[in-house]
Amino acid sequence: MMADTPQTTVLIGSDGFDLDPSDETSIIEEMAHYEQPQAACIEALKIVQRRHGWVPDSAITAIARLLGIGPGEVEGVATFYSLIFRQPVGRHVVLVCDSSACFLTGFQELRQALVAQLGIDYGQTTEDGRFTLLPVCCLGACDGAPALMIDDDTYGPVSPEDLPGVLEDYP
Ligand code: FES
Repeated sequence: MMADTPQTTVLIGSDGFDLDPSDETSIIEEMAHYEQPQAACIEALKIVQRRHGWVPDSAITAIARLLGIGPGEVEGVATFYSLIFRQPVGRHVVLVCDSSACFLTGFQELRQALVAQLGIDYGQTTEDGRFTLLPVCCLGACDGAPALMIDDDTYGPVSPEDLPGVLEDYP
């Protein structure tokens, strides 16, 4: 017999997320490429983020249900990949590489210039919702250090003087 304890009601989907039907189809198609549904997890997260801008809690639940795995597994993958955003971000995300090649070739000056020009620090979004600034590990563009990435575009080497011209392409 169950204990007579009060129930807590959680409103699922309270963060306003609904899995878009075409994204659901894309995720199912992605699953068909793999023997294990877990292998499609990162692609599923990217599909959601591409449309929604970030990955809310309800998306984790929706992806887990679709893949037939636990939400904890999806959450683990989302947490592991630094390019999956679990909080709202601006229209454009500026990722500044702070790994060794960039660190030795002007990362600090570049970071300071970004902070000054955008008026925000890491983890913050400009008031107009245009940019979010985040650190990132090596972007694989060490030949062009110091490097940064805006959305899907990688730039390097970037000097503080280059920044206005680079940023203006992202309204
Ligand atoms: S260390 Fe910055 S891109 Fe590799």
